[in-house]
Amino acid sequence: MGDVPNPNDLPKIVHIDSPFKVQSLPLKDIYVLDNWMAPELHVHFDSLISRSQYWSKTNEVQSGSKTGLPHHQFWGSTFFRGQEGPDLYEDGGATGMSGIDRVFPSYMNRRLQMEFGFKWERFQYMGLNSQTQGLNGTTHADCAQEDDYNISFLYYTNSYWNTAEWGGKLRFYDRPQWGAMGRDEHIKNHQFAEVEFKSNRLLMFDGRIPHGADAPSPRARYMDRKSVVLRGDEVRLIKNEEEWFDANDRVPRLQRRHITRL
Ligand SMILES: [Fe+2]
Repeated sequence: MGDVPNPNDLPKIVHIDSPFKVQSLPLKDIYVLDNWMAPELHVHFDSLISRSQYWSKTNEVQSGSKTGLPHHQFWGSTFFRGQEGPDLYEDGGATGMSGIDRVFPSYMNRRLQMEFGFKWERFQYMGLNSQTQGLNGTTHADCAQEDDYNISFLYYTNSYWNTAEWGGKLRFYDRPQWGAMGRDEHIKNHQFAEVEFKSNRLLMFDGRIPHGADAPSPRARYMDRKSVVLRGDEVRLIKNEEEWFDANDRVPRLQRRHITRL
């Protein structure tokens, strides 16, 4: 990005009523879809992941400081990461999650690919972030600048959130910022859009856009802002609907399961 971004070139917040098949990349705007999941699924998912035993401080942005203190550190769960891929159902692996605990994240991952018409080429990460008051997220990008075929999703899983009083906005900036210092100045000078935290809300955007999530306000007391993160550095757009009905992509997985059981 140049020193003085043209406001007309910046992405806009676009509210959509339903998912759409992505026709071209990079994504032009920041798409917001409310009530994405059916209420029963949404509440069930929130309950499942909140009671998961795999919570740890997986979301950490290092400061490089000699003290070893990070810029931010959130509680959360890692569902899938990198080469391990989102379709591996076996127990264990880098995340330590059991197969059964991955069923719902796997469903969500496949559903998003179907609904928006793509498949991951270079999957990066799926997990959950949890922020309570005081835990502001630092400004960051989800992928490298050269990865213009990326997609980032966020899903706000809390089954209840008092948006007007509890805060937790996601902010988008026209340039990066390193570290937690100067956050207020950065918001004032470089924020170009924001999206409020809302129960059952889905976001889709170009992960190269610098962004960061506010902590909930003190009025939220100890409620945590739970956000599912799903992103890849590169995707392949599926223009041919028939490809969804081709079962071949399941074969390697079935073979792998068979082999590991021998
Ligand atoms: Fe992010």
